[in-house]
Amino acid sequence: EEAIQKSMPLFGKKAMVTAGPTYEAIDPVRFIGNHSSGKMGYAIADELTRLGAEVTLISGPSTQKSNFPVHRIDVVSAQDMFNACTSIFDQVDITVMCAAVADYRPKTVSAQKIKKQENNLTLELEKTVDILSALGKIKKEHQTLVGFALETNDEENYAKGKLEKKNLDLIVLNSLNDKGAGFKSDTNKITIFNKAFERTVFEVKSKTEVAKDICEAILKII
Ligand code: CTP
Ligand code: CA
Repeated sequence: EEAIQKSMPLFGKKAMVTAGPTYEAIDPVRFIGNHSSGKMGYAIADELTRLGAEVTLISGPSTQKSNFPVHRIDVVSAQDMFNACTSIFDQVDITVMCAAVADYRPKTVSAQKIKKQENNLTLELEKTVDILSALGKIKKEHQTLVGFALETNDEENYAKGKLEKKNLDLIVLNSLNDKGAGFKSDTNKITIFNKAFERTVFEVKSKTEVAKDICEAILKII
C-alpha cells in the first residue's frame, strides 16, 4: 500500500480536465474558433492518470491523442463544454480547466449558409457562459479547482484577479510574451499562483514537463 501511495499518490481520486478550443457556429459551414491545440490539457490529463487518478478529459475539437487511458467527452461549443463539465463536476475531486473557451458566440446561428453580399457583414456576438466561474461558485470544500490565465500584458495582476474572482485554488499563468509559450508550441512557460498569492516561476519546458509541475503543485495543496 505504501508503494502504491508513492507511485500513484492520486489513486482513488477522480479528476476532470478541459482541453482545446471551442467552436461557435456562425452557419452550417462556419465557426468562430481559436488556435488552441489541446496539447497542454491532454498532457495534464495524462499526468493525472499516471499519478493514479481516474480522469475525464472534456475536449474541444483537437487532433491530440491521450497516451494514458482517460475517459473522453468530445464537445464543440462553450455551451456543450459547460453541459459536460456541470454533469460530472460533483463527482470529481480535482478539476483543471485548460480549455481556451470562446468568450463570445454569434447571437443567432443561420440555418442556411450565409451568402456573400455587396456590403460588409456584421455579426452580433453574445457572451458565452464562463464555465470556470460557474464551477467556482458551486465548488465544495474538498474539491480542488485549477484555472489558467492567458495574458499578453499586466499578466500577474490579471492572473491574481482571476484566481480570486473565480474562487480558484491555483491559477496557471501562461504569458504569451514569453518565448516558447503558446497555443501551437510544444513548450510552455508558466507561473503558478496559489490562494495566498504565492508565486512559483518555472522555466520554459516541454508541455509534458509543464504538466508534471502543475500536478506537483496540485499534490502540494491536497
Ligand atoms: N474559461 C471558462 N469559460 C469561459 C472562459 C474561460 O471556463 N467562457 C476558463 C478558461 O478555461 C481558463 C480561465 O477561465 O481556465 C481563464 O480564461 P481566460 O480566457 O484567460 O480568462 P477570461 O476570464 O475569459 O478573461 P479574458 O479572456 O478577458 O482575459
Ligand atoms: Ca477568455
